[in-house]
Amino acid sequence: MTPTPLPEPATDRVRPADDHRPGADATPSPPRTGSNEVVLTLTVNGEAVRRSYATHASLLDWLREAAGVTDPKLGCGEGVCGACAVLVDGEPVSSCIVLAVQVDGATVTTASGLAGPGGALGLLQRHFHELHAAQCGFCTPGMLVTAAALVASGRRHSRAEIRHALHGNLCRCTGYGPIVDAIEAAEADPLLRRVVEGGAVEVAAIAGEGRLP
Ligand code: FES
Ligand code: FES
Repeated sequence: MTPTPLPEPATDRVRPADDHRPGADATPSPPRTGSNEVVLTLTVNGEAVRRSYATHASLLDWLREAAGVTDPKLGCGEGVCGACAVLVDGEPVSSCIVLAVQVDGATVTTASGLAGPGGALGLLQRHFHELHAAQCGFCTPGMLVTAAALVASGRRHSRAEIRHALHGNLCRCTGYGPIVDAIEAAEADPLLRRVVEGGAVEVAAIAGEGRLP
């Protein structure tokens, strides 16, 4: 009997822009340290992090358990809620359904990577804070990175477009209105407008006001 294929994940936020899976290009496989562990090196929030961890670990587990970056959260574990969202090479990814080995060598940005110098609130974080875009805060790290990718495009979006961009991020508290308000305010921020006049920018450029020229 022909086996039934597994269903596609419920979100299109599955793969990073570049396919980092071993064998997808000429890059050699990551070195193994034992039968169940592999050494991976990722750039996380601007710092190179090299860790040996379980070969089968998700990117979310690698970040939280191996790298100690705990702002991405485990919600559904199935690629549906967005609590675990991070940026991989600038693209939003549900880190619970991506294997860490798939993104060896990639650049990962989490919500804490959007902070300004000295841990001050970054531009986007400040607008979330001022417009009360978080209540329990569980969804907030994922919301922030999804919003960062949108804002980094350099274009001002309609409220409908912002809501559409957030379709993979679930929030049980806010009703979404304040989150849309905060993203709209960030896109209109004169500091940001000055930087994005020429078009899209690196996510890091919108993170901390101290990084804005
Ligand atoms: S925990 Fe990853 S999408 Fe819900
Ligand atoms: S603020 Fe509680 S889930 Fe969004």
